[in-house]
Amino acid sequence: MDDPALPLADIERAFTDLDRVHRWVGNGALWRQLLPLLRRGPSRQRLLDVGAGNGMVGAEARRRAARSGVELRVVGLDRKLAHLVIGLQQGCAQALVVGDALALPFRDGAVDVSISTLFQHHFDGHDGRRVLAEMRRVVSRAAVVVDIRRSRLGSLLGRGVLKLLRLGPVAGYDGPMSLDQGWTTAEIRAAAPESVTFQLHRRWPFRWSLQLDAEPRDAGDPKMPRNVEVKARLSDVAGVCRRARALATDGPHEFVQHDVFFHCRRGRLKLRRFADGAGELIAYERADEAGPKTSHYRVVPCADPDAVAEALGNALGVLGEVRKRRTLFLIGRTRVHLDEVEDLGSFLELEVVLGVGEPAAAGEAEIAALMTALGVESACLITGAYVDLLIDDRA
Ligand SMILES: C[S@@+](CC[C@H](N)C(=O)[O-])C[C@H]1O[C@@H](n2cnc3c(N)ncnc32)[C@H](O)[C@@H]1O
Repeated sequence: MDDPALPLADIERAFTDLDRVHRWVGNGALWRQLLPLLRRGPSRQRLLDVGAGNGMVGAEARRRAARSGVELRVVGLDRKLAHLVIGLQQGCAQALVVGDALALPFRDGAVDVSISTLFQHHFDGHDGRRVLAEMRRVVSRAAVVVDIRRSRLGSLLGRGVLKLLRLGPVAGYDGPMSLDQGWTTAEIRAAAPESVTFQLHRRWPFRWSLQLDAEPRDAGDPKMPRNVEVKARLSDVAGVCRRARALATDGPHEFVQHDVFFHCRRGRLKLRRFADGAGELIAYERADEAGPKTSHYRVVPCADPDAVAEALGNALGVLGEVRKRRTLFLIGRTRVHLDEVEDLGSFLELEVVLGVGEPAAAGEAEIAALMTALGVESACLITGAYVDLLIDDRA
C-alpha cells in the first residue's frame, strides 16, 4: 500500500480488504480501550485518527461514540492524499489532513484523543517512539494505539485467516508482512514516552492496546486524599459478608445511594444522593485496571443535591446513573463495601485510605491480605466503574 506507483483501483481494493480484516478479526481491542475513555470525557470531543487510511475506523468510532452519548468530531490524518480521498468518496472522515505522523501538524493538546490502528508496525523502534510521543503531544486527554502483537502462533494463525479471506494482491502482500512486523508487548512498553502514565493490555486475537495519558495521574494536589482500591464481582455474597462481619472493627452500616455521573474532561465526576436527602459531589481519577489502583478523589458536601445535579446535567451532560444498596464495614482503616447494584448484581469494594506521602504499595499489600481473608479470588476483580458496566450492558 506504501508503493507510490499503485493504481487507484488497487488501493481501493486494498481498503475493501482491510475493511474485511477489521470485520473478521474485529477491532474489539480498540473499542474496549477507547469507548470507556470517550464516555468519561465531555459530551463533545475531537478525535485524531493517525495513519487513517480511508478513515473507516474513525467513522466507526464516531458511530459508536454517538451510541454512548458522545458527539465525536473526527480528523483523519494520512501522508497519502489518495487514501484520504477514497475515504472522502465513501463518506468516512469529517475532516482530512495530509501529514506525517512523525511530525504531526497540530499544536500541543489540539484534540481530545488520538488513535491509530494497524499503524505502529509501519515503524521501527526509533520512529515508533517518535510517533507515540507525537500522538501524545497533540492530545489533551489520551492517545490510544492498537496493533498486531507479534508471535509465532499469531503469524501462523493470521496467515491462515488471511488465506481464507482471499485478499487481493496488495493486501495479500501487505498482510503477512504486517504479521511479522508487529511489536511485542515488551517492545511497545519500552517505547512508551518516559514519565507518562500508560495502560498496556494484551488483546485477543494477537493484538495489544496502549493508552498514553496526556497528564501524569499524580500531577494533582499532593494533599488531595488518595486511596488504593479494588472492585470484585461476588457470587458468594453471604460468605463474604459473614467473614467481613467477623473481621470488622465497625459496621455494618446500611446506605441507599443514587449516583449521577456527568461527562467531564478528566477522571470521573458524580453526584451522590442518599436516602435522607443529603448529597455529595465526588470528583475522582483512577486507572481502569483490574488489580489494586490508586484513586485521587475530592468529596464536596452538597446542601441542595437536586439543584446541583440539574445544573451539572445541563452544563456537562449526564453520562449515566447508578442505584445501589451499600453495606459498609470498616476493617482497620480499610472500607469494605458490599454493594447490591440495580441491574448489575452483587459486588465487593475494598478501599484503603492512604496517609499523606504513603506509598501505594502499603495499601496494595493490605488489600491482597484482605482479599485472602474474605475468600475473594483475583479472577473476580473487574475494571472500570459500575456506570461503565451499565453502559456496556446497554450498548
Ligand atoms: C495499514 S493502513 C491502516 C489504515 C487504518 N488505520 C486502518 O486501520 O484501517 C496504514 C496507513 O498508514 C499510512 N502511513 C504510513 N506511514 C505514515 C506516516 N509516516 N504518516 C502518516 N500516515 C502514514 C499509510 O498511507 C496507510 O494509509
